[in-house]
Amino acid sequence: MAKIKTLEDLFLDTLKDIYYAERKILKALPKMKRAATNEDLAKAFEKHHAETEEQIERLQKVFEIMGKNARGKTCDAIEGIISEAEDIMDDFKGSPALDAGLISSAQAVEHYEIARYGTLHRWATELGMKDAAKLLDQTLQQEWKTDEDLTTLADKTVNDAAQKG
Ligand SMILES: [Fe+2]
Ligand SMILES: [Fe+2]
Repeated sequence: MAKIKTLEDLFLDTLKDIYYAERKILKALPKMKRAATNEDLAKAFEKHHAETEEQIERLQKVFEIMGKNARGKTCDAIEGIISEAEDIMDDFKGSPALDAGLISSAQAVEHYEIARYGTLHRWATELGMKDAAKLLDQTLQQEWKTDEDLTTLADKTVNDAAQKG
């Protein structure tokens, strides 16, 4: 008979998913930074790269709280999102719309992370893991802020610049 799986198993599974995703994002951000032509956008990617390192450490702490080794599990969703970002970088290289495309790719990443951390935070609370919930919420707030900053950057300059052919 199959093992009876509980919310704790689901939590651990999802933790592995986002751990894999964050490490994939850590590798993608320097490429996105190099591709960006807008200086503020390049800086935003650099800032988020440093934040992603912190976020990976927070996840390692959550694994530790659970008494488990930090281990990722292939996340097909992030593979797809990053692969689409790479297509944009190739297809729009040298074009005025490149930065707008990079922002849209980065926001797809942020929204995926917000979905995952939002769920993990609720589940940690439900499971009575207060310290884990706090760590997950810290990252969730960082992802929200990153998403907002990208919207501001798009509205301020990048979307206008993208229309100049
Ligand atoms: Fe992240
Ligand atoms: Fe993020």
